[in-house]
Amino acid sequence: MSQPIFSPLAGVEGCPEGGYYAVVDLGAHVLAWQPPGQRPVLWTSGRSHFEPGLAIRGGVPVVFPWFGTGPLGNLRPAHGVARTTTWRRGEVVDTTTSDGRLTVTYHLDQTMTGPVPHFPHSYEAALTARFSPESLAVALTVTNTGERDLPYECALHTYLAAGDITQVSVEGLDGRPYLDTVPGASPRERVQEGPVTFTAETDRLYAHVGEVTVVDPAWGRRLRVAKQGSATTVVWNPWVDKAAAMADFGDDEWTGMLCIEAANLRDDALLLAPGESHTLSQSISLA
Ligand code: BG6
Repeated sequence: MSQPIFSPLAGVEGCPEGGYYAVVDLGAHVLAWQPPGQRPVLWTSGRSHFEPGLAIRGGVPVVFPWFGTGPLGNLRPAHGVARTTTWRRGEVVDTTTSDGRLTVTYHLDQTMTGPVPHFPHSYEAALTARFSPESLAVALTVTNTGERDLPYECALHTYLAAGDITQVSVEGLDGRPYLDTVPGASPRERVQEGPVTFTAETDRLYAHVGEVTVVDPAWGRRLRVAKQGSATTVVWNPWVDKAAAMADFGDDEWTGMLCIEAANLRDDALLLAPGESHTLSQSISLA
């Protein structure tokens, strides 16, 4: 283990022979999973900020306690305060040199974010990232430590690297209802027919609890993305105009990425009674 990796951010990295793993304390944000002998599986923008208080563009942002601007559209920063707060690093188990495994656990509670308008709740959140040559597994557990109900949205907003998005297809969503949230799209629910392919800005919320497979012919690989504790799968690629409009996203980088997000949002937002916990997890492996 050595650090820091993405100066000036502190974090943990693992270097199994022929591979690379990285997670930073800002946002408990997994930045890299490159299984030994493989291309990187996660994508991070060359234009990303790596500064305390600013969101990182890429890796696995932890979205909490609201998604986007929240159920009423009035919350800031976008996707909640977890990804812009430095979490407390807990246990690190690094056996990369013997079996290629690294596990890092982080903790967050409401005292670490400071007062959050519209979210006066007490909670403990734990994020565990398990890296191995076979898979990356990320789990977010939230516990209500207050005396009243805790409503929240959450997501593991995973950015996957791809050889050429115009050739990528996502299998496993056939027949699933979805909302198209690209500006100007019809607000009516649609139903997915066949695999998802990418020909324009894509921003969809699928009612979906299973796993998907990302088929990437340009790199000749298939990524299996499984999840638990999540009612919505978000599929996102910004395409040309939105990529150009984002300062922390290279104009041409949309060709080499897509997001597959394990989420609970809108009508499927979570509500924890005092003392109750919920775990949202996602795991990625090469199929
Ligand atoms: C996705 C949303 O989850 O995140 C998109 O569905 C959004 O609408 C994207 O543009 C990126 O969000 P942000 O806040 O990281 O720019």
